[in-house]
Amino acid sequence: MKKRIAIFASGSGSNAQKLMEHFKRSNDIEISLVLTNNADAYVLQRADNFEIPSHIFDKQEFYKTEEIIDLLKNLDIDFIVLAGFLWLIPQNLIAAYPGRIINIHPAILPKFGGKGMYGDHVHHAVMAAGENEGGITIHYVDENYDEGEYIYQAKYKIDKGDNLEMVKFKGQQLEHLHYPRIVETLVKKIKK
Ligand code: GAR
Repeated sequence: MKKRIAIFASGSGSNAQKLMEHFKRSNDIEISLVLTNNADAYVLQRADNFEIPSHIFDKQEFYKTEEIIDLLKNLDIDFIVLAGFLWLIPQNLIAAYPGRIINIHPAILPKFGGKGMYGDHVHHAVMAAGENEGGITIHYVDENYDEGEYIYQAKYKIDKGDNLEMVKFKGQQLEHLHYPRIVETLVKKIKK
């Protein structure tokens, strides 16, 4: 039986896309569901393209009910991957998937992490600080923003003259290269 992954995303979903591509032909792992808090998120189109079901939810459903957990359990989801998902994960969901929720962050944590630090905000902050390197962090998710145990970090060089787009591009390249393979390694280790 295949292990089943759910992706939570709030926006474009380029990382979600890479995960969907990576596992499309896998014999033992599949992306089974995409969840979003944003009905306009482009990730929904990407899920459609791969014929992966999706679910849109609001704050009430996410924070005040058990509906999301019920959905994940009913669909026999084994592992949760956050890919540009901007809301804090509630305690009941963390408890339902202990050690089975991971996130990717576009900086070398603990620098440039915490509430409000997502997407372009992070790249802006990295540039404003005059850093000569940027990076990514893949980490377990706990009830605080960007504080779970680190799984993997990688760096890129920021050259003089790099603009925001360039820095973002370098970060994205690293994310797309590493997230699918790290997810695969972790999911292979868990018991169904
Ligand atoms: C990614 O760069 C990811 O690291 C970041 O959002 C972007 C989503 O891009 N996540 C965070 O900042 C979490 N704090 P995508 O929608 O194209 O995958």
